[in-house]
Amino acid sequence: MSQDFVTTTEMVAYARKHMSEKAWARLDGAAETETTMKRNRLGFDTLALQPRILVDVSRIDTSTTFMGHKLRIPVLPAPIGSTQLYDPEGHRAVARASETFGTVPILASMVVISTWEEIAGVTPAPKILQLAFSGDVAWAREAIARARQVGYRGVCFAFDTPRFGRMEREMIATHEPIRPTSALRQGMSWDLLPSVIEGAGLPLIAKGVTHPEDARRLVDMGFEVIYVSNHAGHALDHGRGAIDYLPDVVSAVGGRAQVILDSGVMRGTDVVKAIALGATAVAIGRLQCFGLAAGGEAGLVRLFELLQEEIFYAMTYLGTPTIADIRREHVITGVPSVTPPSLLSAFPLLGE
Ligand SMILES: Cc1cc2nc3c(=O)[nH]c(=O)nc-3n(C[C@H](O)[C@H](O)[C@H](O)COP(=O)(O)O)c2cc1C
Repeated sequence: MSQDFVTTTEMVAYARKHMSEKAWARLDGAAETETTMKRNRLGFDTLALQPRILVDVSRIDTSTTFMGHKLRIPVLPAPIGSTQLYDPEGHRAVARASETFGTVPILASMVVISTWEEIAGVTPAPKILQLAFSGDVAWAREAIARARQVGYRGVCFAFDTPRFGRMEREMIATHEPIRPTSALRQGMSWDLLPSVIEGAGLPLIAKGVTHPEDARRLVDMGFEVIYVSNHAGHALDHGRGAIDYLPDVVSAVGGRAQVILDSGVMRGTDVVKAIALGATAVAIGRLQCFGLAAGGEAGLVRLFELLQEEIFYAMTYLGTPTIADIRREHVITGVPSVTPPSLLSAFPLLGE
């Protein structure tokens, strides 16, 4: 079934139709006025691509290297706490699909259906754990040690959500209060962080970075990856689009760490734009959920294949046979958008 999809538009349409309302509610919407979420798309839509001609593109190589691991395309599954809403196999499906396709998933620690060990045991292929703070500092240190023991290749901390966001659509629909987060998550600070990461023994990723000064400070502390993200617009409303923060962060990091990005990535051209502005790779949140909902593990593999096809064609027309060939000169900033931004505005043919 999954192999039948020839566009991501069809996958998104099929997934939307076949997922539960609860699952859809987690994808639909963002914090308060949803301005940040819309700006995520607007940010990509106001960048145009600048091709160069007469470059031999008879061979295109979409692969890259992230944290020493080869990726078939510069795209990773972002941490999603509720993957089981989109496929009963949840994180296990994400881990298997990532191995089959050739990427490295970042798996959220807040899972309900499997233990970290079970997920790690699904495949020996590289996986990264996104650790949500709980307990106290000693708990966090033990959790990092446990992640190391069970074979995760890195630990990712999300610093942009000390508290869950005010997801207004969901709040109106459910009339439920916002779930609380742990005291450690709320109290995490520049003062506390060194005691958590000391002797971690695993590469560290800082997620939710948007300010160049924060990025520089995290690199000074030893973080190997700076992960630009506004959490899909789920946290602070009225922020900028994630891609708009990228160039300043890349320049602050100055090559001392790899920079990745998520929030709003829906298309191969989005991937290429982020690479042109200095990202090593991007991650996909909602799109990953659509892939899972369209066909579980096979659906996610198919989604990655279709993204690869989009990236391949974009690289063909740009005149960039390898990922390293994609540079700043290939994007033009400040171009008017032709599409009003919304959750699914990257798929204008939906519903036709
Ligand atoms: C349903 C859902 C659950 C998420 N759960 C987590 C989580 O547990 N930990 C985390 O760091 N980010 C979580 N995120 C944020 C994603 O990792 C990612 O930052 C975001 O989805 C990227 O934006 P995109 O959905 O536009 O690709 C979640 C996002 C969604 C949509």
